[in-house]
Amino acid sequence: MPRPQDHFGRKARAEGYPARSVFKLREILEKFPLLRPRARVLDIGAAPGSFSILLLEKLKGGGEVTGVDLAPAIAVPAGTPGYLYISGDIFEEGVYTRIRSRAPFDLIVSDAAPATTGTRELDAAQSMALAERVLDIAADCLSAGGSLAVKIFQGAGEREYLARLRSRFKTARGFKPQASRSESFETYYIGMGFIPG
Ligand SMILES: C[S@@+](CC[C@H](N)C(=O)[O-])C[C@H]1O[C@@H](n2cnc3c(N)ncnc32)[C@H](O)[C@@H]1O
Repeated sequence: MPRPQDHFGRKARAEGYPARSVFKLREILEKFPLLRPRARVLDIGAAPGSFSILLLEKLKGGGEVTGVDLAPAIAVPAGTPGYLYISGDIFEEGVYTRIRSRAPFDLIVSDAAPATTGTRELDAAQSMALAERVLDIAADCLSAGGSLAVKIFQGAGEREYLARLRSRFKTARGFKPQASRSESFETYYIGMGFIPG
């Protein structure tokens, strides 16, 4: 029997997206009012490009999307109006400076994930380090009232992370899209109503 991942992967490619993660963001955007018209969006861990493509489609030519990833390039064609791709590591200061030059953002999404080692504790710890960095970027670059959706591999301090989110957003909660069900390990945390300061 085909694995659910293969099913979603084929369906994504048939619909013109390079990765099945598109279905996760679709579900998140259907469930939570994160994306307003003409929003400025930061897509962290953007390669191969499904999230960015979906965000551009939903914005219908309004707003702006900035993608950032370690990969040298992604599936969004160079020169797409309203889109900037930054190739690099979000822990690097130079990359951070480039991200910051596009701020403020109304929405930050992060699907960033470490290369998995097979050791769950290590993978979860590396994922949490990424999520912490994403929250630091959000604290500095989100506009008042803005939103954050961030992927986390469960198993390393989610309770503390949620508490940190709740101190910076009016509401914060976990959400596991149907399309993530086959990956029991991952979930998303959603913060809405960013409180600056
Ligand atoms: C699951 S993929 C993202 C899929 C993407 N959301 C899409 O829709 O096509 C996770 C991505 O996180 C990126 N990543 C991991 N660590 C990173 C870091 N420190 N800085 C930037 N990107 C990172 C990886 O290179 C990888 O492309």
